[in-house]
Amino acid sequence: MKECEVIAIANQKGGVGKTTTTFNLGVALANMGKRVLLIDTDPQGDLTTCMGFNNYEGTTVATLMEHTINDVPLKDDYILHHKENIDLIPSNLDLSGLEMSLISTISREFVLKNCIIDLKKDYDYILIDCMPSLGMITINSLACADSVIIPVQTQYLALNNMGQLLGTVNKVKKQINPELTVKGVLLTLVDERTNLAKETRYQLQQSYGSVVNIFKNRIPLAVKAAESSIVGKSALSYDKNGKVAIAYSELAKEVIENGKGRFKNESTKDKVR
Ligand SMILES: Nc1ncnc2c1ncn2[C@@H]1O[C@H](COP(=O)(O)OP(=O)(O)O)[C@@H](O)[C@H]1O
Ligand SMILES: [Mg+2]
Repeated sequence: MKECEVIAIANQKGGVGKTTTTFNLGVALANMGKRVLLIDTDPQGDLTTCMGFNNYEGTTVATLMEHTINDVPLKDDYILHHKENIDLIPSNLDLSGLEMSLISTISREFVLKNCIIDLKKDYDYILIDCMPSLGMITINSLACADSVIIPVQTQYLALNNMGQLLGTVNKVKKQINPELTVKGVLLTLVDERTNLAKETRYQLQQSYGSVVNIFKNRIPLAVKAAESSIVGKSALSYDKNGKVAIAYSELAKEVIENGKGRFKNESTKDKVR
């Protein structure tokens, strides 16, 4: 049986398309027959909300982590099923409190990793939607991931955060998760009518092209992508022939083709600080 691949979708900047990418890439992978679990690790719970679970107050990723820390046996009520054939471990504001309590926890970087160990046999892909910070919850996500997808918005100064993020990935790789790789940088919210997308891609290629993979597929800006999340649907079901749906389906193919660990040797080692 093929091993489960865990991918963290991370960028400490908000509004770059992390949540939208987690949801739509997840659905695109499921449409290709993959068993997919999404984990919302943002206390804002945006992924939980945009999948249609508004004001969710049941068991969340915070409960799961708390029970793991305290060695409390887990019930199986923390996985929600979405009608587009994907599962979700939801989140809400409780995760903020949990992040504080991690400070005094033994092996605090590995709590999420311990939470998902037994789940990996049930899925081909686990996608983790990270919060917009490089704090302990994001470190937990990077500690249990095989790879990271970094969505970057095509906007002036958008690349400024990249060095810091790659530096964190590098530190996590060196200190706690040697298997971690950068799966790729994904250009999002691309407005085809402007030259900015071309410019950003060029800059990205110049600055980071030799150390990280940059996905061939980019995600175009389209109002329907934002509309779909309001009704709890992915772009792939809300506007299935639309350009965003097609872009995420193509991205899913790239993700599958790239395979687990393919970029293992393209480490960011010593080149990015
Ligand atoms: N391709 C797109 N076209 C138009 N709007 C988008 C697209 N992708 C995301 N959005 C919208 O942009 C905003 C930020 O996206 P989101 O995925 O929540 O980013 P993040 O998780 O990085 O904060 C949301 O309102 C979302 O609906
Ligand atoms: Mg988000």
